[in-house]
Amino acid sequence: MDWTVAPGPASLEIATNLSAKLGAKLLPVEVTDFPDGESKIRIGEDVRNKRVIVVQSTYPPVDKHLMQLLVLSHKLSEDGADVFCAVPYLGYARQDREFLPGEVVTLGVIGRLMRSVGIKRLVTVDIHSVKALGLFSFPVYSTSSIPLLAEYIGKNYQLRQPIAVSPDFGSSSRVEAFSAVLKSEHISFKKSRDRKTGEITTEEQSLNLMGRDAIIIDDMISTGASVVKCAQLLKKYGASRIITAVAHAVLIGGAADRIMGAGVDELIATNTIPSKYSKVDVSPLLASHFEML
Ligand code: R5P
Repeated sequence: MDWTVAPGPASLEIATNLSAKLGAKLLPVEVTDFPDGESKIRIGEDVRNKRVIVVQSTYPPVDKHLMQLLVLSHKLSEDGADVFCAVPYLGYARQDREFLPGEVVTLGVIGRLMRSVGIKRLVTVDIHSVKALGLFSFPVYSTSSIPLLAEYIGKNYQLRQPIAVSPDFGSSSRVEAFSAVLKSEHISFKKSRDRKTGEITTEEQSLNLMGRDAIIIDDMISTGASVVKCAQLLKKYGASRIITAVAHAVLIGGAADRIMGAGVDELIATNTIPSKYSKVDVSPLLASHFEML
């Protein structure tokens, strides 16, 4: 059966590209914002018995984008569509465990909300931790943009003795996937974060990177603190150029300036969160997933 794509207001570009790749109709979705910040959504077409993919990232303002995703999905399902969703950047994905006693595992709550509005399947890109997929009681899949980021960098930069670097052990598998494409060396730093203050410490290593290009790989940059610590060490070890490649450039406050100030020369990201750093389109990854269904 054919697909129909419902573009959420946070992900118009990906929705348009996905519909073109799947040869799917793009639904007219009208979104109005009231002065108090509430959104009102209207679907301009009959969706009965259609298989509809709602495309909506939940980057900041996270709660607003999440609410738009939920109400849009609810309406489609109420009107008789089979609802699937593509959430290229899934907000709250880092709240997947009770790190301190009494903390809410918010991602689990989001899974319940998604299910309650009729979402049958969720596809996301580079979820923070694949273990989090276990919090959902319906099919959930995380696809990875890291090979596409590696291809982009391989094509667009003349790399000198490249070394791919993960700022922490959590991104070790990402740095391995990146290196497999570029056939480069890779290392992972050991990072720890104070759960109360959020302060980051990165362990020193004995490295000589004189004259080499280092590529920092991570799932996301939020405040930039992780990349800043990593870049400072790479500079100290002699790296001549630092490129940072991430799936999700959340870039809170002056994060981009902070990482550039720490020695990062280039920032490359996907379009899960639209910005001037979005160089890699994730719609082919989403299209391959839905083509299989
Ligand atoms: C954490 O483990 C993640 O993989 C990222 O490294 C982290 O969330 C980035 O956050 P920030 O930019 O605030 O350091």
